[in-house]
Amino acid sequence: MKLTALAAALVASTISFGAFAQQPIVIKFSHVVSQDTPKGKASDFFAKRAAELTKDKVKVEVYANSTLYKDKEEMEALQLGAVQMLAPSLAKFGPLGVKEFEAFDLPYIFDNANELHKVTTGPLGASLLAKLEPKGIKGLAFWDNGFKSFSANKPLKTPADFKGLKMRIQSSKVLESQMRNLGSLPQMMAFSEVYQALQTGVVDGTENPHSNLYTQKMFEVQKHMSLTEHGYLGYAVITNKKFWDGLPADVRGQLEQAMKEATEYANKIAKAENDEALAKVKASGKTEIHTPTAAERAELKKVLVKTHSDMASRIGKETIDAFYKETGFDPSKL
Ligand code: LMR
Repeated sequence: MKLTALAAALVASTISFGAFAQQPIVIKFSHVVSQDTPKGKASDFFAKRAAELTKDKVKVEVYANSTLYKDKEEMEALQLGAVQMLAPSLAKFGPLGVKEFEAFDLPYIFDNANELHKVTTGPLGASLLAKLEPKGIKGLAFWDNGFKSFSANKPLKTPADFKGLKMRIQSSKVLESQMRNLGSLPQMMAFSEVYQALQTGVVDGTENPHSNLYTQKMFEVQKHMSLTEHGYLGYAVITNKKFWDGLPADVRGQLEQAMKEATEYANKIAKAENDEALAKVKASGKTEIHTPTAAERAELKKVLVKTHSDMASRIGKETIDAFYKETGFDPSKL
């Protein structure tokens, strides 16, 4: 190579190396809900803190409302490294083969957020996240959403009211059993398709925390909702393990700090966000809200806890017992 060509090549490589050195590390963070929900707000908060703490060395691009991937596709995309971060609902880990997570979806296993946090912030939660590693996934945190209500175009007070209704669920054996124990017909469907399915009558009803029902406008096509709080819906924030382990140690530490702050934020706002969404649904006048009586609640509970024994061999009795130990749930006291 002539000297001038060599010099030109050297200059070009210096320029491209300089440009490379300044490129931020991009984290694509995909989720399926609205930005105006606990998960939406917490992922935006994480993006902001990640930029601040890494001094723009990391750019988190948040894709809300299934704009990048729908429910099933997103887990595959993470494992392939096409997206770096997700916060799927806990129900999504059973179909991935980590069935212990399905205990979170057992009806009535948590009476309140305190009982839930004993699992998510304690050793049981940490051991569940560790079970994701052989799948190429690093579990970073648990983010709250809230307790679910049933909705349909008729009042849902007792199990008899559910008979024959087509009820949308996430892909989950536990939720399938729950709906079957009520005598309804579970219909698995991606979150992004639920509004239209309710609107056109493909399904009759569903279950949601209020923030999801409100922000997806499902309340506009559901005339009745019962504040059953029969189950919990929340998230695990996860990343591609190879990507995470390959980050420079200082950057990883800063991202861990950003995630710690985003988790505190998520779990602080979740209840208020859901309460506010319920108030907005009430104010719309489109959905009649029913609060079950103590007798109605007891009847629903009696039918729904059958799912615990139905699912014991699938989830593992030891896992269910470990949850009971944390939450104080005692099936013999029903
Ligand atoms: C659902 O499919 O109902 C949930 O997974 C949506 C969510 O909150 O992520």
